[in-house]
Amino acid sequence: MTFDRAIKIAPSILSADFANFGAEIRAIEDQGADWVHVDVMDGHFVPNLTFGPMAVKAFRPHVKTVMDVHLMIAPVDPYIDAYADAGADVLTAHVEAGPHIHRTLQAIRGAGMKAGVALNPGTPAEAVAHLLDLADLVCVMTVNPGFGGQKFIDMTGKIAALRAMIGDRPIHIEIDGGVDPRTAPLVAQAGADVLVAGSAVFKGGSVDHPEVYGANIAAIRMAAKG
Ligand code: DX5
Ligand code: ZN
Repeated sequence: MTFDRAIKIAPSILSADFANFGAEIRAIEDQGADWVHVDVMDGHFVPNLTFGPMAVKAFRPHVKTVMDVHLMIAPVDPYIDAYADAGADVLTAHVEAGPHIHRTLQAIRGAGMKAGVALNPGTPAEAVAHLLDLADLVCVMTVNPGFGGQKFIDMTGKIAALRAMIGDRPIHIEIDGGVDPRTAPLVAQAGADVLVAGSAVFKGGSVDHPEVYGANIAAIRMAAKG
């Protein structure tokens, strides 16, 4: 993984056909996805349940780009090695998931992955001020995590504050929740470079009509570029 600040569209397979993940991943990558965003939920940290490390490992051979795994689980630390073994390129944990996010980020890097730290909408940018030397990505949630298709919550002030805190450091700012062609320019202008989008990418398409995914990805990218 090389670092750059170009806009990257990361479709969330939370909005894919759960009976057909391999084909869905191949379809979004063929249609221009830059990264593949994988939402892991435990029914405890968030009120929804998706899949665990065995499923994520099964996705790996289908992902040619970057497998970006977003853990919405608590605790995190007991599962870090399992997600390394599953082939995650980026492993993101929430700052709210436990008392020792600093140790968690050290452990993620120690296991050979890029380390991401996610902030719920109610958590201030300052929560990562002493974590930036351990982070390769900061994920700003623009919905309360747990479900796709929710309404965008404006976090542009937080994004701009993070962008200033990060400066020249090679740290991605990722936005997750309610990203579509209308909201993408707001977050891109504030300083985000990785845009996660679930419903706005998969809407209207299927593995039989993947060109719809392509048009949806292109519309978000074009809007973000202004
Ligand atoms: C929310 C997840 C998101 C979600 C985004 O808890 O972390 O990745 O899939 O979905 P949309 O783009 O539909 O808001
Ligand atoms: Zn996510």
